[in-house]
Amino acid sequence: MARYRIAWMPGDGIGIDVMDAARIVLDKMGLDAEYVPADIGWHFWCTEGEALPQRTLDILKTCTCGLFGAITSKPKEEADQELAHELRGKVPSYRSPIVRLRQIFDLYTNLRPYKSYLGNPLNYRDDIDLVVFRENTEGLYSGVEFHPFPDAVRAAVREANPVMGKFDEVPGGDMAVSLRIITRASSRRIIRRAFEYARSHGYPTVTLVEKPNILRETSGMMTHEARALAAEYPEIPLWETNIDAQMMWLLKNPTDYGVLVTSNMFGDIVSDLCAQLVGGLGFASSGNIGESFAVFEPTHGSAPKYAGQYKANPLAMLLAARLMLDWLGETGKARTLEGAIAEVVREGKIRTYDMGGSNTTLEVAKAVAERL
Ligand code: NAI
Ligand code: MG
Repeated sequence: MARYRIAWMPGDGIGIDVMDAARIVLDKMGLDAEYVPADIGWHFWCTEGEALPQRTLDILKTCTCGLFGAITSKPKEEADQELAHELRGKVPSYRSPIVRLRQIFDLYTNLRPYKSYLGNPLNYRDDIDLVVFRENTEGLYSGVEFHPFPDAVRAAVREANPVMGKFDEVPGGDMAVSLRIITRASSRRIIRRAFEYARSHGYPTVTLVEKPNILRETSGMMTHEARALAAEYPEIPLWETNIDAQMMWLLKNPTDYGVLVTSNMFGDIVSDLCAQLVGGLGFASSGNIGESFAVFEPTHGSAPKYAGQYKANPLAMLLAARLMLDWLGETGKARTLEGAIAEVVREGKIRTYDMGGSNTTLEVAKAVAERL
């Protein structure tokens, strides 16, 4: 029996192309793994009314971790239109399978490293090395939303907090509300992960990126918990910044920072800025990590216009495989893979279109495999 069972979830569009690339590299490394194909994505929504079928959840429960390409996702009306006729009105409305995966398996950490590799023409600067820890399960993306805003909820809020009174004249149908839920336990576990990573991977600081002067209660709770935990990591200073200012500082002085930790939506935003600093979507990888299970993915989507053309840059996917190896404890293999990726980028001979080249997805993967 293989040492690891890895759920293999290509998904849609270029997810399939880049997962083929990942396989070339993993096979070359001889990872002692069994790769178990698992269905996920738009196709399964259209034909079965479920983008994350139960059989996939069953497979995931038997696996060490998962590797995921990308999926196509569409707004509610379009999703309804593309659903098979016989299923209309009979299945729950479309839900993002990746968001569901994070929730079902409580993959509360979204780990996103951003390193500029020398020789990448897309680098904003050549000396960037940042790691974002984004809380992955709650905050403004908790999914507790209202429209219209129900009278009963409104009355209760009004009673608990008189500031609500300034909206008294607005009809419930003209008001939409999303709850930004932050729990102490989730704050603690994501901040602890950030400090542990800084310690184990040698990052000099942890920066909490929030907005406690305005979001006094929610960002305030994150700040309170971060300060309490920081005492356990005396060698790693805790910095506290506001999300808006942090965006400017990341452009101005990106090398000042090491590990950044933040809540769900701020993490989403800061991640995209960081991705652009190191070459854009072709270089942005992530891990969705819980207590004993994890799913690794490039952060880009399915890029439908390039589907099946094998034009997409596979490096984000290969960097996600590297994160997986690191998480599995295969740190030697993880380092070797990252080194091979860095070498291909530095040499600059084999490049996909986004880097100004004309090589295919699989040619880049083979170039990386040759340098392992
Ligand atoms: P996208 O990330 O799929 O692509 C945006 C553009 O970025 C592409 O058109 C392409 O020019 C470029 N790009 C993306 N990945 C690349 C790569 N590996 N190499 C070279 N260029 C690359 O985002 P978009 O177009 O907004 O969404 C397309 C679909 O993907 C939508 O259905 C969306 O909902 C879904 N999506 C899925 C995600 C996931 O699976 N985690 C994340 C983001 C979007
Ligand atoms: Mg995003």
